Amino acid sequence: MPKTISRFTCQSCGYESPRWLGQCPACGAWNTLVEETVAVSAARPRRASNVPAPEAVPLKAVLPMPEARWRTGIGELDRVLGGGIMRASVVLLGGDPGIGKSTLLLQLAERLGERQLLYVTGEESLEQVRHRAERLGIHAPGLRLLAETDLERIMAAADALEPELLIVDSIQTVYTPELQSAPGTVAQVRECAARLVRMAKTKGCAVFLVGHVTKEGWVAGPRTLEHVVDAVLQFEGDRHYAYRVLRAIKNRFGPTNELGLFEMTDHGLREVSNPSELFLAQRRPDVSGSAVVAAMEGTRPLLVEVQALVAPTAFGTPARTSTGFDGRRLAVLLAVLDRRVGLSLAYQDVYVNVVGGIRLDEPAADLAVAAAVASSFRDRPIPSDLVLIGEVGLAGELRLTGAMERRLEEAARLGFGRALVPKGVGSLRVAGINLLRAETLVHALELIGCL
Ligand code: TYD
Ligand code: MG
Repeated sequence: MPKTISRFTCQSCGYESPRWLGQCPACGAWNTLVEETVAVSAARPRRASNVPAPEAVPLKAVLPMPEARWRTGIGELDRVLGGGIMRASVVLLGGDPGIGKSTLLLQLAERLGERQLLYVTGEESLEQVRHRAERLGIHAPGLRLLAETDLERIMAAADALEPELLIVDSIQTVYTPELQSAPGTVAQVRECAARLVRMAKTKGCAVFLVGHVTKEGWVAGPRTLEHVVDAVLQFEGDRHYAYRVLRAIKNRFGPTNELGLFEMTDHGLREVSNPSELFLAQRRPDVSGSAVVAAMEGTRPLLVEVQALVAPTAFGTPARTSTGFDGRRLAVLLAVLDRRVGLSLAYQDVYVNVVGGIRLDEPAADLAVAAAVASSFRDRPIPSDLVLIGEVGLAGELRLTGAMERRLEEAARLGFGRALVPKGVGSLRVAGINLLRAETLVHALELIGCL
């Protein structure tokens, strides 16, 4: 082992100091010095002439990697990972405390069957883990548990057991005695993660790191770990709902636009394979201000209800509040409704909500949002057998968006009979769906009686 020394580096300007300082003497920033270890090599620096030239190879001489991905058996997790867990990859699973990260990983352990898996718990006792496993009805023959927070000992255990998957729950509790900083600080979290990443790459074992999202944001500072790991998955959900959404924020081996959907039940997480039904379950037809959009989340069509409420402003500036839809995009749509359609919303409060805690961030949702606002303003309900799909341009024109056929098929599957779409779809036909084609937003609102 090379000897290591500690050094403190300013995260904002890069100034290095041998000791910790509250304020950086170079740039004046407070609390930016973070501890790092550096290996000190005893040998004198080599001169360029003594260094043997390493061999660079032509691209075609590089052998392809053996198929190194295995399915976990939890379909929604596999989807977000891009088809399963990659060998030697490191995945960071982040989320609020209590969202269900440990539960998901324990259920993963059960699906892996005989595969060797080491689950390191730094937060709970072995008895607590066992208690949860009993509640989930889990036997997981390949699972070994370890209650440990010292990184050196965790690495030693991994060396001895050679698991195919190592789970560290959570990275904030792990520490290396080489650093003086406390567990959970940026220095510790980064160093421990980097060591585990190196281990994954050399041994070929996959690693899942659990990270809690703190009040300030991601695990001890937002970007601390993102560039070290191969994939970052975020587990989200509303405390008031049982739905849990798993999304990839970064994925070196797969897409980042896929969603995994779960429901937390008394016996752990249940996969939601029919999300559209879930999101439309509580819809009340024939109420104004409600529109259904056939959105795409990654490769999967998803029917979601958009609600809008328009009410006269009591005093001062009108409120514009939006949940699950970009506020700036809403402002653009309101301007288009004002200028191109002639709805005077200047003295109206506008509230928009996407039902079910889902975030709609594709342009295809524009038409549904605009129509929901118009419907509430006019107090005329949108027909309940209608889905709306289309982007709204600044000139008030409707623009075509991708994957139209998939969206319409999903709408048909859920019993919708009509779809309001941009004229640009041309002669597209989907069984069971009547297409209402509109060239402009004005035309679209006319067709549904909300002008
Ligand atoms: P947990 O996996 O411990 O969350 P995290 O590891 O992200 O902090 O989940 C804790 C919550 O989930 C807790 O509020 C209890 C609830 N829960 C269920 O509703 N059903 C279950 O079967 C389990 C195991 C937990
Ligand atoms: Mg936990």
